[in-house]
Amino acid sequence: MAGFWWWKLLLVALAGILFSPQQYSASQKVPEYRFMRNATSASNIAYFDYIVIGGGTAGCPLAATLSQNYNVLLLERGGSPYGNPNITNLATFGAALSDTSPTSPSQRFISQDGVINARARVLGGGTCLNAGFYTRASPQYARETGWDGKAVNESYQWVEKTVAFQPQIKQWQSAVRDGLLEIGVQPNNGFTYDHIDGTKVGGTIFDQQGFRHTAADLLQHGNPARITVLLHATVHRILFTIKGKSKPKAHGVVFRDALGRRHKAYLNHDHKNEIIVSAGALGSPQLLMLSGVGPAKHLQAHNIRVTLDQPLVGQGMSDNPMNAIFVPSPVPVEVSLIEVVGITKFGSYVEAASGENFAGGSPKDYGMFSPKVGQLSTVPPKQRTEEALAKAIESMDALDEAAFRGGFILEKIMGPMSTGHLELRTRDPNDNPLVTFNYFQHPHDLERCVQGLSTVEKIIESKAFSPFRYKNMPLSILLNMTASAPVNLLPKHANSSLSLEQYCRDTVMTIWHYHGGCQVGKVVDTDYKVLGVDALRVIDGSTFNFSPGTNPQATVMMLGRYMGLKILRERLAASD
Ligand SMILES: Cc1cc2nc3c(=O)[nH]c(=O)nc-3n(C[C@H](O)[C@H](O)[C@H](O)COP(=O)(O)OP(=O)(O)OC[C@H]3O[C@@H](n4cnc5c(N)ncnc54)[C@H](O)[C@@H]3O)c2cc1C
Ligand SMILES: *[C@@H]1O[C@H](CO)[C@@H](O)[C@H](O)[C@H]1NC(C)=O
Ligand SMILES: *[C@@H]1O[C@H](CO)[C@@H](O)[C@H](O)[C@H]1NC(C)=O
Ligand SMILES: *[C@@H]1O[C@H](CO)[C@@H](O)[C@H](O)[C@H]1NC(C)=O
Ligand SMILES: *[C@@H]1O[C@H](CO)[C@@H](O)[C@H](O)[C@H]1NC(C)=O
Ligand SMILES: *[C@@H]1O[C@H](CO)[C@@H](O)[C@H](O)[C@H]1NC(C)=O
Repeated sequence: MAGFWWWKLLLVALAGILFSPQQYSASQKVPEYRFMRNATSASNIAYFDYIVIGGGTAGCPLAATLSQNYNVLLLERGGSPYGNPNITNLATFGAALSDTSPTSPSQRFISQDGVINARARVLGGGTCLNAGFYTRASPQYARETGWDGKAVNESYQWVEKTVAFQPQIKQWQSAVRDGLLEIGVQPNNGFTYDHIDGTKVGGTIFDQQGFRHTAADLLQHGNPARITVLLHATVHRILFTIKGKSKPKAHGVVFRDALGRRHKAYLNHDHKNEIIVSAGALGSPQLLMLSGVGPAKHLQAHNIRVTLDQPLVGQGMSDNPMNAIFVPSPVPVEVSLIEVVGITKFGSYVEAASGENFAGGSPKDYGMFSPKVGQLSTVPPKQRTEEALAKAIESMDALDEAAFRGGFILEKIMGPMSTGHLELRTRDPNDNPLVTFNYFQHPHDLERCVQGLSTVEKIIESKAFSPFRYKNMPLSILLNMTASAPVNLLPKHANSSLSLEQYCRDTVMTIWHYHGGCQVGKVVDTDYKVLGVDALRVIDGSTFNFSPGTNPQATVMMLGRYMGLKILRERLAASD
């Protein structure tokens, strides 16, 4: 039963990755935002110049910037990230993703494709859950999107001053970097935030102590006299006025607090005031639909009054497929999330994460690949009962520590070209919508995956990486190990590890870079104004046609700052 043994090794290895004995120190850097409150204490009706829906990666920098000159309300459905060790500590990456309670900062969803995924529910959004890798989009991406290159650079710098750091590269990540260089992913670009072909070390939002900095930290640059941040404030609907033949005009929102009490916030009377949706790639199209902006037939089927028939809301949903190979290591490795990246010329990006064996007596169920996280789940979600989890953890406890050593080398493809769509499941904004990404529907995506995985194979076989793999463990066994683990809910095939095409399809996971649903040119114009209505914009990852750079968070934060400045400038220019 050799096959079973490997499976078991993988099971425990996955669970052990990314656990570290470092402890969180609660005294670290908790800002006292006087303007941040629980929505239960909000008045029933209030008036603002801007209402930003969603205090996430784009919403925080956007609201902070607009508050320079205007009264801004930022509404976030989740709580504060500050003081929560599951969020602030690099070593507990996975704890928030494992927590499936209704108050968790992470809301799990499973796409119709059968891939387990997660979305943020916390002030700071995805930057509170993510792997921290910080890297810009290329100047070409900015040009093609129609952004002003100089303002883009200034906005990136503004973000970087507060949340971006240089990682300290240790031995395992160095071996991946040297392996990339050895096999020809050249040149060596050293440490840089820039997106350039070759191999580089990117930035991170974790500082040298492993402490996470998030988009919520950007609120410290807000104007405390003009910004209000409400937590546990779930927006249910955007309100429109409809007069005669003119376009419907957004003028207020309905939100509910933690006790279910209803509140309304309206725009002050000035035709330049606006509501801005920054609720993320799932939240933004969902909220437009709940507000009557979407495909009329679909809205009617859910008994939603149609404000504007907009068939493209919820279209163009994409998630960059991620495929990984787990490589057990004969020697200890450091705990690392993503630090090194190989930017290949064929449109596939190579990244890596590693984990150390246990120091003993520590909670093995908090690692990135623990049975509870879902990503690289060791217990399929349908069978993930308390007993099943307990059993999996017990079997890990029984295994040798060496089994937990190693790392994942992964590839994600650029784009992607395959697209899917989003639909409402219910009229409750707390429920996940139904989302389909159609991984590898486009043949070019599959080609890039195969090329990316061949690159990963070459790194594993490289001289530079050789200290971190067992000599007697050929690639075929490594592939079989990952392919045999229940990494998603898709059916397994006997040929999964025999053909890279099949391996791509069968072991597809998410790297959580999903985007689309309110795309530029389809749902919003190039100023992010929602087409067909007035006083409403969408600014966040739902507007992307393709995921920016190798990893998107830098560009999402940049976009919040960039659009905030642009709105301020245009308004000032128009007011003389
Ligand atoms: C686990 C994980 C790992 C990742 N790793 C990386 C990485 O290493 N590097 C990288 O660059 N990117 C990474 N990403 C991706 C990146 O974090 C996201 O692309 C980005 O954060 C998305 O930003 P957004 O503003 O579009 O949405 P979000 O940041 O999700 O913001 C949306 C906000 O709106 C709120 N909201 C939604 N609906 C409502 C409503 N009805 N009322 C009120 N509030 C609402 C949500 O609670 C949320 O806070 C990762 C993501 C995840 C989840
Ligand atoms: C917000 O207020 C509600 C009701 O008073 C309470 O149940 C909830 O715990 C509060 N949340 C926070 C984070 O303070
Ligand atoms: C941290 O995560 C664990 C497990 O995922 C959960 O049980 C715990 O309640 C979380 N703690 C906080 C403060 O959210
Ligand atoms: C923006 O910065 C990048 C380097 O990060 C540089 O290549 C590019 O030329 C700059 N763009 C402009 C318009 O200054
Ligand atoms: C892995 O190898 C075993 C034994 O050789 C084989 O039975 C199984 O089909 C392989 N699994 C995959 C997913 O390739
Ligand atoms: C793998 O096997 C399945 C049937 O079990 C088949 O449909 C598929 O085409 C095969 N894949 C490859 C790449 O041969």
